[in-house]
Amino acid sequence: MSMLDAEVVQEYIRMCDDGWLQGWHERNAGNLTYRLTEAEVEECEIYFDYTDDWVEMDISVENLAEEFFITTGAGKYFRNIALDAEDCLGVVEINEDGDAYRVVWGFSGGAVPTSEFPSHMLNHSIKKEATDGLNRIIYHAHPEAIVSLTSILPLTAKAFSSALWRTITECPIVFPAGVGVVEWMMPGAGEIAVKTSELMETFDAVVWAAHGMFVSGATFDLAFGLMHTIEKSARIYLNTISAGKRSLRTITDTQLRDIAETFDLVDFNYSLLD
Ligand code: 13P
Ligand code: ZN
Repeated sequence: MSMLDAEVVQEYIRMCDDGWLQGWHERNAGNLTYRLTEAEVEECEIYFDYTDDWVEMDISVENLAEEFFITTGAGKYFRNIALDAEDCLGVVEINEDGDAYRVVWGFSGGAVPTSEFPSHMLNHSIKKEATDGLNRIIYHAHPEAIVSLTSILPLTAKAFSSALWRTITECPIVFPAGVGVVEWMMPGAGEIAVKTSELMETFDAVVWAAHGMFVSGATFDLAFGLMHTIEKSARIYLNTISAGKRSLRTITDTQLRDIAETFDLVDFNYSLLD
């Protein structure tokens, strides 16, 4: 037995591989963090080593104190994760003040957590609070159609949510709150991490202009499915405007309202309609 046999680690690796197969993870693109349940920590703890030093994070996430996360490593390639998970992935523990982490498993070649770790931790903090602990996943990828749209559409939640909702009927059902958008900013720590986490209070998905997307979910299926659905809608939207027919036929505001009522979408964000 090893840490890699744990069901949660297998599920995590499968999601990384699925993202790679979708073409969302060129080179070292993208990162994934998962907040372990207490039962999973108990199951995996025999493989943990608590001798590493604490590393300060420059942010404070008090409600994540003493939580454990599986994270991809900075500079690691998603295409290699299934082949050498122990080198590409690590498990980190957050300290009791919520302002430092230490590696307790993995990163066998000496890697550190993803450069987007501050964004991930701020997003986890917001989502843990907002969902009563339900959401455990933050996933960042570079899907190309949604990134294309950031060169075309106004960089607003209204423009993006409206375009995506009107393209595929399932979209308002899958992300009734809509999607948030961050204008171009330097990736990594700082302003972009704070801005993204503020948007995560309202949205489960946030688009980064000329870069990619962050999503949050309770399970691997939900987080992956959200990224997949948004990217598919963006692709169809792009195909349609490429054919020069965009204005011919889309789902109308009235039809969107009907969908929200029929499916009892209590979180449907009517403020993003005209
Ligand atoms: P990391 O290799 O540090 O995870 O960075 C990849 C990325 O997508 C940065 O936005
Ligand atoms: Zn990125």
